Amino acid sequence: MPTLLHIDSSMHPTEGSASRPVTNAFRKEWETQHPDGTVIYRDLATDPLPHLDAAAFAAGFVSPDERSPEQRAAFALRDTLAAELEQADVVLIGAPMYNFTIPSTLKAWLDHVIIIGRTSLTEAPSAAGTPTVVVASRGGGYGPGTPRESFEFVTNYLGKTLDGALGLDVDFIVPELTMARTNPAMADLIELADASKAKAHEDAVSKAKELAARFTA
Ligand SMILES: Cc1cc2nc3c(=O)[nH]c(=O)nc-3n(C[C@H](O)[C@H](O)[C@H](O)COP(=O)(O)O)c2cc1C
Repeated sequence: MPTLLHIDSSMHPTEGSASRPVTNAFRKEWETQHPDGTVIYRDLATDPLPHLDAAAFAAGFVSPDERSPEQRAAFALRDTLAAELEQADVVLIGAPMYNFTIPSTLKAWLDHVIIIGRTSLTEAPSAAGTPTVVVASRGGGYGPGTPRESFEFVTNYLGKTLDGALGLDVDFIVPELTMARTNPAMADLIELADASKAKAHEDAVSKAKELAARFTA
């Protein structure tokens, strides 16, 4: 039975969030296809991870059988998070844009799971090739040719880290202009925003179907 690792990082609960309803739509479809599968869930907003510290970072460079009890303790959380990633057949991440980039809670997760010599920068990174769907919601528009294109540090950054550093096989779903209904200056963009939201939901369901089918016997 396949395993889905589902990570949300929006500070808002589902009712006030653009990314959570889309990750939920993906997960619901996945669970319909794999009712007996495993879902590992991390809500980084309600249960934030501590920042990576020097002891946990350094312990990553010591081979597991040579770690002191202190190093093992310092490394325990990184080990757990990396094992969750390694165990996953599919990864689903909600990554809203906050101040042009990802939430700091999601950055903390990345700092823990990017482990040189295990998940990254080694001949065979341990989670390489895992299909990964990122729901990158954003209040404005940052597509090619828009005035704010160069301010986009969510898909650009996650492309480099999830794919470049961890070797995951990454796809983005981007519900954008999400502030159009609350920001009067964006009133003209409501139609586009609604279309983007509808497409994000459709894409989440079809992507979940497609990936779930890869794991049916
Ligand atoms: C702290 C904060 C910073 C934000 N910064 C940006 C930004 O730089 N650019 C943008 O387009 N939207 C920004 N937004 C709007 C969010 O990207 C938008 O509301 C998106 O839908 C968030 O997804 P979520 O509702 O799942 O959290 C920001 C929202 C918050 C709460």
